[in-house]
Amino acid sequence: GVVASPALSSGCPDRCMCDDQLVVQCAGQHLTTFPVNLPLATRQLIISNNRIVELPPLTLNYLSDLVYLDCSNNSLSEISESTFGNLRKLAYLDLSFNHLTRIEDRTFGPLASLVMLRMTDNPGLSEIHPDAFAENAALQVLDVSRNNLTALNITSLIALAGLRSVGLSGNPWSCECINEDLCLWVHLEGFKFQEGQTVCGSPADMQGRRLSEVGIQLRTLCHQTLGSWDYLFFVVIGFVIFAAGTVSAWVMGVIMVLYERYIKKKGEQQDVDDEEEPSSKG
Ligand SMILES: *[C@@H]1O[C@H](CO)[C@@H](O)[C@H](O)[C@H]1NC(C)=O
Ligand SMILES: *[C@@H]1O[C@H](CO)[C@@H](O)[C@H](O)[C@H]1NC(C)=O
Ligand SMILES: *[C@@H]1O[C@H](CO)[C@@H](O)[C@H](O)[C@H]1NC(C)=O
Repeated sequence: GVVASPALSSGCPDRCMCDDQLVVQCAGQHLTTFPVNLPLATRQLIISNNRIVELPPLTLNYLSDLVYLDCSNNSLSEISESTFGNLRKLAYLDLSFNHLTRIEDRTFGPLASLVMLRMTDNPGLSEIHPDAFAENAALQVLDVSRNNLTALNITSLIALAGLRSVGLSGNPWSCECINEDLCLWVHLEGFKFQEGQTVCGSPADMQGRRLSEVGIQLRTLCHQTLGSWDYLFFVVIGFVIFAAGTVSAWVMGVIMVLYERYIKKKGEQQDVDDEEEPSSKG
């Protein structure tokens, strides 16, 4: 009952080699578009070293048995949120050596079996959404080396229990408070991070230093100081407390004086009454 897309068949795409292990090999064939006529049951698809500009979501999502997809060294500039919508068995994905610039929230969301994601050498890739990998619970190896990343929010990454290898080298990392968590992570769990130049690209006084070195320094730097507004706040609060103390002391003083006078007056009155009393009786 499976209705095949017109782009798919039991044949083999032009300029590709298909074997009975369901491997389709189209590497280095000067392709500019995604191959058509792919076997529906393809398990491995290798389209590396071409000039393919786009992955068509519709065609790709018919390949629901796909386990291995190598798209490295192409001209991909964008991966839409629906591109990998149906590839629940995909374990290996390579998007290295392309022209990607940003990764959105839901891009890898459906890839529940993804174990290894290579996304290196995209010179313009400068933004990865904080939750881009949040649902990739099977992820073990992530390589984002040699991109244009300055910051990486690790909130969802540190929650991935199986993650054991992360490649970060060759990016112009910002070693400022925005990246404090990343630097601390590299410092504390250094064993997870692949060898290579994982160093600060900015600010100027941190340039060239390793992320693992600056982790603790950032920790202190980013939590220590009070800004001038904090000082102003303390001055104002101090003055308010002082003023309130002064006013209440003054009010208390006035009340005491009035009370004393009242007691005194009452005492005098009593004396007068006492003196008057016998005469009124008599
Ligand atoms: C990318 O593919 C081209 C052929 O299209 C090849 O000449 C080049 O060496 C490849 N680059 C890498 C880094 O593999
Ligand atoms: C890398 O990102 C910076 C901004 O953070 C930008 O100015 C620069 O052009 C980017 N480099 C590439 C190759 O896109
Ligand atoms: C990282 O992302 C999470 C979830 O999107 C967000 O709550 C948190 O504030 C972010 N952290 C930083 C340092 O931007």
